[in-house]
Amino acid sequence: MNTRDALPGMAESYWMDTAPGTTWPALGTDTTADVVVIGAGMAGLSTAWELTAAGRSVVVLEADRVAAGVTGYTTAKLTAAHSLVYDRLRRTRGRDGARQYARSQQAAVERVAAVAAELGIDCDFERSSALTFTTDRKERATFEAEAEAASEAGLDAGFVTETDLPFAVAAAVRVDHQAQFHPRKYLLALARQITARGGVIHERTRVTGLTEGSPCRLTTERGTTVTAQEVVVATHYPVFDRGLHFARLSPNRELVVAAPVPASEAPEHMYITDDMGKRSVRTAPLDEGRRLLIVTGESFTPGTGDTRERYLRLDAWMHEHFPVAATAYRWAAQDNQASDGVPLVGPYHPGSRHVYVATGFGGWGMSGGAMAGQLLASTLTGEEPEWAGLYDPRRLWSTVREGATLLKQQADVARHFVGDRLKTTHVDSVAEIAPGSGAVVRVEGRRCAVYRDEDGTAHAVSARCTHLGCLVAFNEAETAWECPCHGSRFGIDGEVLHGPALRPLPPREV
Ligand code: FES
Repeated sequence: MNTRDALPGMAESYWMDTAPGTTWPALGTDTTADVVVIGAGMAGLSTAWELTAAGRSVVVLEADRVAAGVTGYTTAKLTAAHSLVYDRLRRTRGRDGARQYARSQQAAVERVAAVAAELGIDCDFERSSALTFTTDRKERATFEAEAEAASEAGLDAGFVTETDLPFAVAAAVRVDHQAQFHPRKYLLALARQITARGGVIHERTRVTGLTEGSPCRLTTERGTTVTAQEVVVATHYPVFDRGLHFARLSPNRELVVAAPVPASEAPEHMYITDDMGKRSVRTAPLDEGRRLLIVTGESFTPGTGDTRERYLRLDAWMHEHFPVAATAYRWAAQDNQASDGVPLVGPYHPGSRHVYVATGFGGWGMSGGAMAGQLLASTLTGEEPEWAGLYDPRRLWSTVREGATLLKQQADVARHFVGDRLKTTHVDSVAEIAPGSGAVVRVEGRRCAVYRDEDGTAHAVSARCTHLGCLVAFNEAETAWECPCHGSRFGIDGEVLHGPALRPLPPREV
């Protein structure tokens, strides 16, 4: 038996638990549209909604369920305050770049506010301030510079040392007029509006092939095809690698724990710090006299380290600092960071005329996704916004500016690709694997990823990621196989939980 204690809280996100499931049909026959959007998360549905508003015929293809992937597991802060970003942007992209970033992200916050109001969506939308803080006195000058840069970029920002957190901070940047919401309640309403306008949504429809042309042609796992003038790939990590996006994106995973807190003791604002391996705090309305405190942190590369230990550390931190009741939920969020820290939204690669991508939101996918929707819909309808160049993915193909970061990322990939195959930390036989855990085992010269369930039954699949061949590693706290190279995730029977991998890990006999 697995003798390790259960982790605290239900293993589900609050957003998934408190909004209904969806059942749009899979694509059963060939079809056509003006635009196909691949992926029904924040970026995909925002894009589809904007395009249907502009009168385009849109088909949305989702491999799983609407707003049930990364978007269903976010922390759902809706803000233009993305930790320490504006001072860096002002240095790397100039004052205009920082200003465009602030303007586009704040416009996204206001867009969600306006759409929620216009459609009367009950999505717990609340105005709030966003504070980035540190407890390290030596960082004060960094935060003063960030406050000045954010203010200069046009945000209502300032440097403060007082917060309503229950512990002292050394320095903080406060940005007012931000927001938080319930992402699934918002997006399910958007999805209904998309179909009411004539758009079509197909769930459980994984796209496995894309040929760009006039028109573009997509093929699905079920053998059906869709032809469209334009295609938007909004699958979190781009599922087709022709743009070599994998060389420009780093996957990152964070854990979340949530517990009820008396409303009178709940922090009023949203907080984030890079201290302690990252900590983020917000609350959501719960019931009479209580709010749900949502704490995020323990940032890591998927497939590395002990996720269980990280959950316990994060949960202990929440209970140490806030007067919360027992932990109610725990879940994990995943996102990608572009090598220069700015999302990639625009043409898929330098030669693309009809295929677009939205990715690399670096943990800020709510405002980033809404921004991508506005940007791509405007571009496709011939009214490119002034900040299109800032996010244009082609910027990373023509410069060497971020060459050092790229090299480091690829060195990391190479280390996992080669190093993990040679490492002997994997077990020698299935018998060594305790029930409830998993390990990589060599069987007849082949690496197998073997999970033993609580009954002792072995579930064996290939340990080689179907994306580009790195070795997967077991995440015991989430009972999943994870690839450290680009963040693909697989279930214990090999099914794809998260791309860029498109094909399951094939079964193995052990
Ligand atoms: Fe790229 Fe696994 S996700 S090799």
